[in-house]
Amino acid sequence: MLFGRSVLLIVGGGVAAYKSIELVRLIGKAGGRVTPVLTRAGAEFVTPLSLAAIAGAKAYRELFDLTDEAEMGHIQLSRAADLVVVAPATADLMAKVANGHADDLASTLLLATDKRVLLAPAMNVRMWLHPAVTRNVATLAADGALFVGPGEGEMACGEFGPGRMAEPAQILAAIEAALGAAPAVAGGGPLAGRHVLVTSGPTHEPIDPVRYIANRSSGRQGAAIAEALARRGARVSFVTGPAEAPRPAGCEVHEVETAVEMLAAAEAALPADAAVFAAAVADWRVVSASGSKMKKDGSGAPPRLELVENPDILKAIARRNEGRPRLVVGFAAETDDVLANAAAKRLRKGCDWLVANDVSPATGIMGGTENAAILITEAGAEAWPRLSKVETAERLADRIAQALA
Ligand code: CTP
Repeated sequence: MLFGRSVLLIVGGGVAAYKSIELVRLIGKAGGRVTPVLTRAGAEFVTPLSLAAIAGAKAYRELFDLTDEAEMGHIQLSRAADLVVVAPATADLMAKVANGHADDLASTLLLATDKRVLLAPAMNVRMWLHPAVTRNVATLAADGALFVGPGEGEMACGEFGPGRMAEPAQILAAIEAALGAAPAVAGGGPLAGRHVLVTSGPTHEPIDPVRYIANRSSGRQGAAIAEALARRGARVSFVTGPAEAPRPAGCEVHEVETAVEMLAAAEAALPADAAVFAAAVADWRVVSASGSKMKKDGSGAPPRLELVENPDILKAIARRNEGRPRLVVGFAAETDDVLANAAAKRLRKGCDWLVANDVSPATGIMGGTENAAILITEAGAEAWPRLSKVETAERLADRIAQALA
């Protein structure tokens, strides 16, 4: 999974360029973001418009695209991503980078970046086997570039042999491996040796075999927090309800459905040094869910559902006498009097910190990609600016790392 990770994808000029569309789609499905760049030849094979549409981001083509001050400069563009991927990497593009040329946007970005570069070569068999190409590949590898493929098979030119670009799924796997192999913090990170529990997502409370009570939580904030903690070296037990967000990389994932199951999984994950309760747990469940699908009885009278309160997972763990994590962080989803309600909630639940969110519909936070949080601790309240859920997670993970140091 690539949750919250971004890839700068350079599409070179080759028949295999059409596969870049599928690659962008797969990266998106894995939770990653793509900024596409096309070489001039690349744009002959795949249109900037189709790439931009699938990526949901502008496709850059020329150095000239970046001269407008409102745009990112090439240095910034080359560094904003977590990884630079070249697919297809042509013989010409590899020759340029191996020899330090920077005469167009793609080669300039490849020289200016401080990130790892993953190349997916694609070319004719004879070209791939040419000593000049072999030399350039060796130079690039010695400079730290990573390679995926090429594979062997029938090629667009009718010849057979090595030179075929790796399939998009293989390139995605190589991207995941490259990012996993490059921890954000060298030397294990500030949370190495620590165990953190994170609850996330909604819970589903069954009414009958086909219906359930749920809420709008996407699970994005919880997954981003778990991944940010894992990147800082923590062992993360991630207990999630049925959320749409991709599961975070590098975490032990425990999938549950109901609040009762979530409590059991969270308790089973203890002991932990810290626990973050980002889940939007359903407050109530149906007393006795029907074993078979409920039918209309013809009278026009709706069924009456008797509800019972669910266990409060945060409170149960925050108030434990034995085995309480050293740092317990709750979340509060509020629509009115956010600060006052959240401060009272911190005390009522017994947690150390509480991250309060205004989830009134106008904010678009519930189910969205951004958050505007207030961190409430014993020392007082701290309002954070409106940030992406990934940035909010990074901040919180830094604070947790400081607190456990
Ligand atoms: N929480 C929990 N178990 C529950 C309900 C909530 O662990 N059964 C946790 C949430 O994960 C969150 C915090 O408690 O960290 C607050 O959730 P919120 O929905 O804001 O609070 P509620 O306790 O449901 O209070 P209310 O809806 O009455 O405001």
